[in-house]
Amino acid sequence: MLLQTIYASARRADESGADLQDILWASRRNNPAIDVTGLLVILPDRYVQALEGPAGSVEPLLDFISDDARHAGMRIVTRLQAGERSFARFAMADFAPSSDPAARLTARVDNLIDRPDPAAGRDLWRDLARLSVEA
Ligand SMILES: Cc1cc2nc3c(=O)[nH]c(=O)nc-3n(C[C@H](O)[C@H](O)[C@H](O)COP(=O)(O)O)c2cc1C
Repeated sequence: MLLQTIYASARRADESGADLQDILWASRRNNPAIDVTGLLVILPDRYVQALEGPAGSVEPLLDFISDDARHAGMRIVTRLQAGERSFARFAMADFAPSSDPAARLTARVDNLIDRPDPAAGRDLWRDLARLSVEA
């Protein structure tokens, strides 16, 4: 079984985009070795990241990422068990939605943080998986 998890965090201001490039670079370099795939959604003031892989890889990675000073206040949005990957082709896909979809995504994420709901979490995961296909 795979663990699929989505978290959200507050993004440190990054006018030059250098933080983002470094994060994606590190993810793509490191994740294949631990069998983790996923998607980083870049919102104006937040990151929303979907990570999937063996629980023994995803859990320590979450711990590790939570210490990164380029974001703060990591909150788990949903945790799912799955038989197969949604992001098999991506060590770390990335997607920066335009303002309307970004606002809708933020609202859904906030809702799930306040009121965890496995069905809504699964729907969110499915919608993020679709984004990676379009990306
Ligand atoms: C929002 C966010 C997401 C990140 N995602 C990953 C990830 O999926 N995999 C990873 O190895 N590092 C990720 N990082 C970076 C790690 O915190 C850390 O900087 C990096 O793994 C160090 O890699 P290095 O030791 O190879 O330089 C992320 C950082 C942030 C802020």
